[in-house]
Amino acid sequence: MTDISFENRTVIITGAGNGLGKTYALEFGRRGANVVVNDLGGSTSGDGADKAAADVVVDEIKAAGGNAVANYDSVTDGDKIVQTAMDNFGRVDVVVNNAGILRDKTFHKMTDQDWDLIYDVHVKGAYKVTHAAWPYMREQGYGRLIFTASAAGIYGNFGQANYSMAKLGLHGLAQTLALEGRSKNVLVNTIAPIAGSRLTETVMPKELTDALRPEFVMPLVVKLCDENSAETGGLYEVGAGWIGKVRWQRTLGQSFSVNDGFTAEDVNDAWDTISNFEGADNPATINDGTRRIIKNLKK
Ligand SMILES: NC(=O)c1ccc[n+]([C@@H]2O[C@H](COP(=O)([O-])OP(=O)(O)OC[C@H]3O[C@@H](n4cnc5c(N)ncnc54)[C@H](O)[C@@H]3O)[C@@H](O)[C@H]2O)c1
Repeated sequence: MTDISFENRTVIITGAGNGLGKTYALEFGRRGANVVVNDLGGSTSGDGADKAAADVVVDEIKAAGGNAVANYDSVTDGDKIVQTAMDNFGRVDVVVNNAGILRDKTFHKMTDQDWDLIYDVHVKGAYKVTHAAWPYMREQGYGRLIFTASAAGIYGNFGQANYSMAKLGLHGLAQTLALEGRSKNVLVNTIAPIAGSRLTETVMPKELTDALRPEFVMPLVVKLCDENSAETGGLYEVGAGWIGKVRWQRTLGQSFSVNDGFTAEDVNDAWDTISNFEGADNPATINDGTRRIIKNLKK
């Protein structure tokens, strides 16, 4: 198996000053990439800013013989991050949308600010960086993008309504970008990682955060960004040295006659069939998804 190399490739990692992003940045640097180390350097809840976060990682990449430049903008100014890549390296090949914060609160205590800030950093930030990089990737016929979701978005998590919304929203965005980017060799995947970091150390015991090293997530990200990879549109759960792929599953469902009409009581009577996953299928495209619905009209 040949080594995966990023020589002459420019890789943008957002939120690369800590945790997962730092681990990715160091590895891409080690593998020959020109790395744009973006980090605002704020707190876990999105307050403040500090250039040191990105600078430390740039210094570490350079000390190991790699190429890196710092960018201190918020991902909500994603065009400036892409401009840093263009100004310093003349191209952008890979974007790892990783920057993130938490504003955990139960829904009845959540303020508009908690909701908006989580949306801004995770969703709008990833959109802004990706939207600025997208034309360059299409033009050069090569691009790899990673979006960072979370189990909280896939399954829900008590006290994380804002974060769950943002994280699964990113997968929705990634699935459509995968369709729009495929013909230009711009491939887009989503990961839902678990790793010890300053974000998780508030909610997990120290032994666990120490054991869940970000290095156990990083190899999947590098593999998905490989120019020889053909994977796109995937959603992967990853952590602690385990990696799996997630897909939708849908029951066979119940058809009702649109000609004869049907009532809430009919739906109630069919409830066991509607919710029974025996023989369920796995729709993977919007056509798969809508086929049964359209077919029912023709009955
Ligand atoms: N650690 C986990 O178990 C876990 C689980 C699911 C999802 N995630 C996601 O993984 C990503 C990385 O998280 P982490 O655990 O490494 O956290 P982390 O706090 O260690 O790193 C996140 C980095 O993002 C930076 N950042 C925050 N807002 C920014 C902004 N507006 N612009 C630029 N940089 C900004 C922070 O300064 C920080 O350095 C996040 O998107 C997080 O939601 C992490």
